[in-house]
Amino acid sequence: MIALEHVAVEYLPGKEILTDVSLELKRGSFHFLAGPSGVGKSTLLALLSLQHRASRGRVHMFGEDATNLPRNELPRLRRRIGMVRQDYRLLDHLTVAGNVALPLKVAGESPEEIDGKVKELLAWIGLGDYGDTMPAALSGGQKQRAAIARAVIANPDVLLADEPTGNLDSELSLRFMYLFEALNQGGTTVVSATHDEQMISLFNYPVLRLKEGKLAQL
Ligand SMILES: Nc1ncnc2c1ncn2[C@@H]1O[C@H](COP(=O)(O)OP(=O)(O)OP(=O)(O)O)[C@@H](O)[C@H]1O
Ligand SMILES: [Mg+2]
Repeated sequence: MIALEHVAVEYLPGKEILTDVSLELKRGSFHFLAGPSGVGKSTLLALLSLQHRASRGRVHMFGEDATNLPRNELPRLRRRIGMVRQDYRLLDHLTVAGNVALPLKVAGESPEEIDGKVKELLAWIGLGDYGDTMPAALSGGQKQRAAIARAVIANPDVLLADEPTGNLDSELSLRFMYLFEALNQGGTTVVSATHDEQMISLFNYPVLRLKEGKLAQL
């Protein structure tokens, strides 16, 4: 489904954050992504979501070589990926419901279908009364829940979640982990970056551990 071959990533020329990362994510797999703050977890997820390019190595996605795909071809692949960014990235000018509805709109679903799905999911994540609220008026944890809802609503082939439960209490964190598990059992490939070693030990999924620009051998 996704494979990286000896990939390097740099933001500034000559200063590599990831130096040599190779991995294969099989369809329907579930991985945690761990490592200390600043090691490059978000960077690796940015690469996997095709938001950042590799400076070396190759990136394969959905059976295509995505390493040097022209920019205008990227949305086609990105549509298959649900991403929860560490800083949420909700669109400020849209309501909560408008944000969550975006992937369904892009997929061309009817307004009635979209409305029904969004209402149901918002209720499930405890934001049933916040559909018409603007993101700026949400708490951190509420924003995080809305960002997760947007990432999962269209049933993506791949879910990339960056500290998805970092702002949630333990009960809500578990609820979302069970949501990710349910998606995964439906075939979604999941990578969840987390600092939460307790969560990692609670769920028996393999862990990708970043260290000094590389994935540690397990
Ligand atoms: N846009 C950017 N420009 C320059 N350097 C960046 C940029 N984004 C991240 N970096 C650097 O890349 C390194 C890895 O950052 P990244 O955000 O991937 O770490 P992380 O493992 O996700 O950390 P955390 O656990 O704190 O979220 C850091 O040294 C950071 O300063
Ligand atoms: Mg990060």
